[in-house]
Amino acid sequence: MGCLFFFRSKRNRREKQGRPRAGAGETLTAATTSFSSYDTSRSYGSTCGKQTSKSSASTSSQQSISAMFEVKGGNLRVFELGELRNATNGFSHMLKIGEGGFGSVYKGFIRAADGKGDRHTVAVKVLNLKGLQGYKEWVAEVHFLGVLEHPNLVKLIGYCSADGERGIQRLLVYEYMPNKSLEYHLFHKASSPLPWNLRLQIALGTAKGLAFLHEGLEVQVIYRDFKASNVLLDDDFQPRLSDFGLAREGPTGDRTHVSTAVVGTYGYAAPDYIETGHLTIKSDVWSFGVVLYELLTGRRSLDRNRPSNEQKLLDWVKQFPIESKRFNMVMDPRLSYQYSLKAAREMAKLANSCLSKQAKERPRMSQVVQILIHIVQINEATAAREAENKVRRADRAGG
Ligand SMILES: Nc1ncnc2c1ncn2[C@@H]1O[C@H](COP(=O)(O)OP(=O)(O)OP(=O)(O)O)[C@@H](O)[C@H]1O
Ligand SMILES: [Mg+2]
Repeated sequence: MGCLFFFRSKRNRREKQGRPRAGAGETLTAATTSFSSYDTSRSYGSTCGKQTSKSSASTSSQQSISAMFEVKGGNLRVFELGELRNATNGFSHMLKIGEGGFGSVYKGFIRAADGKGDRHTVAVKVLNLKGLQGYKEWVAEVHFLGVLEHPNLVKLIGYCSADGERGIQRLLVYEYMPNKSLEYHLFHKASSPLPWNLRLQIALGTAKGLAFLHEGLEVQVIYRDFKASNVLLDDDFQPRLSDFGLAREGPTGDRTHVSTAVVGTYGYAAPDYIETGHLTIKSDVWSFGVVLYELLTGRRSLDRNRPSNEQKLLDWVKQFPIESKRFNMVMDPRLSYQYSLKAAREMAKLANSCLSKQAKERPRMSQVVQILIHIVQINEATAAREAENKVRRADRAGG
């Protein structure tokens, strides 16, 4: 695997090819920014050259989201740059809440389009002007999130494309997610440990989001970038998938996959996809399995700061087979043993099935949802039993 393709490192991952099509101030329509013009044959980094065939299936099916966008895209608000500058206090450093490959994210405050009512909080993502690949991701994000609505997907409020001081500026405006990302809660020392029940809730919610994309629409949507940093948490710690810049429509008719340049994030992308560039919904299922292990262990899928035999999470967990006594050693020490071991084992089994080498053997996300519902029930039953035992012990001690 010396020859690598893609990928998402935090910065500087954009390719230098591509030409923006929509101009400043132009309202996005399917016609001005047709998905079919998204090249499936380009990668973000150096390519091995073999995974870049173009799929006519993907090209024709991609128009369907565009067609849906023609109908529903009008619900998105088109912002002026000045409005968003005001909303973020001039893109103040004080209001900066994050930075990804796309650019910087700011907290902002806006009023309804008619200017009435209280201001409400939003997140404003500003496209990094250096990368032109960002334009494609920006359009993809607007198109997908302009038509997809689900409680486990982040809500896009609107967008902006305008002449700025340094060229065309492109921005996205989202509903603000006050509880940061799953990545923050699992891996940042400043965060308090994420309780076990919330981890299950997050696993179930994200599974529902992916199941909706894969199986709940007329078109199949492959998310392609499922990872802890793209799972944002709302007021109730319900998870929402964000970042649809790499999303693609799935194969149609009797086609089994779409062929694409390999893009995604190291540590999360399915090996079969990396090897062949053949993208299917099962590529997302693999990434979901990786995140399940991150939820169990509190370790990153790839962590260069650990000893070499612990850097790759999926290799490390193999030392602790699910049915062995050593299994509890995979569990996140920050959980302080506050979890149901039975539920954790079931979750690891589910993760392993998502991580089947053969994509076909991986479950569909609707099956994953059912299994997770069952795991939540196991967890509740264990908690109820433990509570009863506690009462009994207290009674005995008292009597
Ligand atoms: N809608 C939102 N509400 C609140 N915070 C957000 C929102 N969107 C993004 N953020 C914050 O901004 C950070 C950066 O997000 P972004 O998606 O740009 O990068 P990333 O996911 O960390 O990396 P990558 O570019 O590889 O996807 C997030 O981790 C999150 O903390
Ligand atoms: Mg992201």
